[in-house]
Amino acid sequence: VIRIAVDPFPDACELDELWQATWGASSGDYATRVLPRSLAHLAARDGERLIGFVNLAWDGGIHCFLLDICVDPDFRRRGIGTDLMRQATAVAKERGATWLHVDFEPHLEPLYRAAGFRPTAAGLINLTE
Ligand SMILES: CC(C)(COP(=O)(O)OP(=O)(O)OC[C@H]1O[C@@H](n2cnc3c(N)ncnc32)[C@H](O)[C@@H]1OP(=O)(O)O)[C@@H](O)C(=O)NCCC(=O)NCCS
Repeated sequence: VIRIAVDPFPDACELDELWQATWGASSGDYATRVLPRSLAHLAARDGERLIGFVNLAWDGGIHCFLLDICVDPDFRRRGIGTDLMRQATAVAKERGATWLHVDFEPHLEPLYRAAGFRPTAAGLINLTE
């Protein structure tokens, strides 16, 4: 049974394992630096094992941003990413946000459309280039 929790503050080690499995990179100080500033974050667990995560970054007002959604490769295509998005959307609404933003790679468009994200014009700058 996969359980999803709101604001569980996963520890740095388990978050790092999921990050490595997903992006092949360390989560660094995400657990201590990023999460305290969020409107919410959600984590999916199979028993004790952290297998999914999503963050709702927040401007302190009516806007929040869905970031860093990930599901462990062993657990993909079972609807967990969709559940994380749907529950995150409900939490954002409950906590008073008006707008939930996201961007994504083109091949993931069906996932985000099915979760309720409508198309909009948007822009992005890579500040490291
Ligand atoms: C993106 C991600 C979170 C999806 O999680 P998931 O639990 O596998 O997603 P779901 O099972 O809810 O997928 C639902 C539907 O979305 C679409 N979808 C999901 N992953 C997809 C992929 N890699 N390519 C194309 N479509 C995809 C499919 O239509 C899928 O339905 P189907 O399985 O019946 O074909 C997961 O693949 C992941 O962690 N990827 C690496 C990190 C990443 O790219 N995050 C997003 C951008 S930061």
